Amino acid sequence: KKVVLAYSGGLDTSVIVPWLKENYGCEVVCFTADVGQGIKELEGLEQKAKASGASQLVVKDLTEEFVKDFIFPCLRAGAIYERKYLLGTSMARPVIAKAMVDVAAEVGADAVAHGCTGKGNDQVRFELTFFSLNPELKVVAPWREWEIQGREDAIEYAKKHNVPVPVTKKSIYSRDRNLWHLSHEGDLLEDPANEPKKDMYMMSVDPEDAPDQPEYIEIGIESGLPVALNGKALSPATLLAELNTIGGKHGIGRIDMVENRLVGMKSRGVYETPGGTILFAAVQELESLTLDRESIQVKDTLALKYAEMVYAGRWFDPLRESMDAFMEKITETTTGSVTLKLYKGSVSVTGRQSPNSLYRQDISSFEGSEIYNQADAAGFIRLYGLPMKIRAMLKKIS
Ligand code: ARG
Ligand code: SIN
Repeated sequence: KKVVLAYSGGLDTSVIVPWLKENYGCEVVCFTADVGQGIKELEGLEQKAKASGASQLVVKDLTEEFVKDFIFPCLRAGAIYERKYLLGTSMARPVIAKAMVDVAAEVGADAVAHGCTGKGNDQVRFELTFFSLNPELKVVAPWREWEIQGREDAIEYAKKHNVPVPVTKKSIYSRDRNLWHLSHEGDLLEDPANEPKKDMYMMSVDPEDAPDQPEYIEIGIESGLPVALNGKALSPATLLAELNTIGGKHGIGRIDMVENRLVGMKSRGVYETPGGTILFAAVQELESLTLDRESIQVKDTLALKYAEMVYAGRWFDPLRESMDAFMEKITETTTGSVTLKLYKGSVSVTGRQSPNSLYRQDISSFEGSEIYNQADAAGFIRLYGLPMKIRAMLKKIS
């Protein structure tokens, strides 16, 4: 019996290793995914996992896959959950869980385990991905089974099992970081009336402290996907990393919200998504040139459902995949560039251009035009408004 554990090296996942061995009598293979969270102690991680009792540690760099196959499709779809959330954690869980399924096959494991609590969304996202990609795998979620309640319990359990307690001071916040975003939950944020402390933020400066000079940038877009920054072609992960630096410097992309978790409760979260916020502004703007009215309306309607599916962990659901096929087709001609101005927390569009632009200055101009005949409008309005006229006539008669 062998289990693959989603491992971070923190206190909780360190304690899960001996707990799995004690309660399931299985060999534990630890797995750490690099999704751009900035794993500083990657060198010490293998030793750490082994000191906790793991037979081995597998590390995989998923950054490019994460950005290209998970983040960019959501960006192209315009997926935003409950008006604000850019889904940073929601997109990361399926790419990590998918890699765990692969690792399980590679090492011949029959089970997978994660350190998510029983109160959150993440457990659902992990497990739905396991179900979709390998229904045979057994799933262990220690937080839903064990007696360990808080940090003190965990430290005691670690000591009893000779597991070195991680020295890194645990933050008071529950955080999740990757290349797209950083989330903060817990502690003083649990009262929705409290303003976050200034020193909580990690990816962005306070807009008040951002440079007094605005910065202009140009994003190149091809078929709904960002491909270049200021004329330079960059890989998805490199492009995003550079925009995080630029956006963070100008205090872009801070979101403070109360959201509805899938498990029924509300929770308050604060998110930093500097590069992502810039990319959303750019991609959506270009669609104003390349999509007509009904296409935008239908796309926006589907984007809501798309976001809901991603939030709920249903990444590998054929419905999301089919909506993705729609998104790919409808954004086929969304190619061009958008110029943005970054200034003290705000990102504003100053220009857009596309070889496939449906905007025609010769038609739209206030100056005279050949193609558009103003006299045509009279007949159009009479027919377009006919139902309204008929209803009004009825009212007069009765
Ligand atoms: N509430 C956000 C979401 O459900 C963020 C979750 C953060 N997860 C974590 N393990 N700290 O996507
Ligand atoms: C957790 O409960 O493990 C983190 C928060 C969430 O999943 O929503």
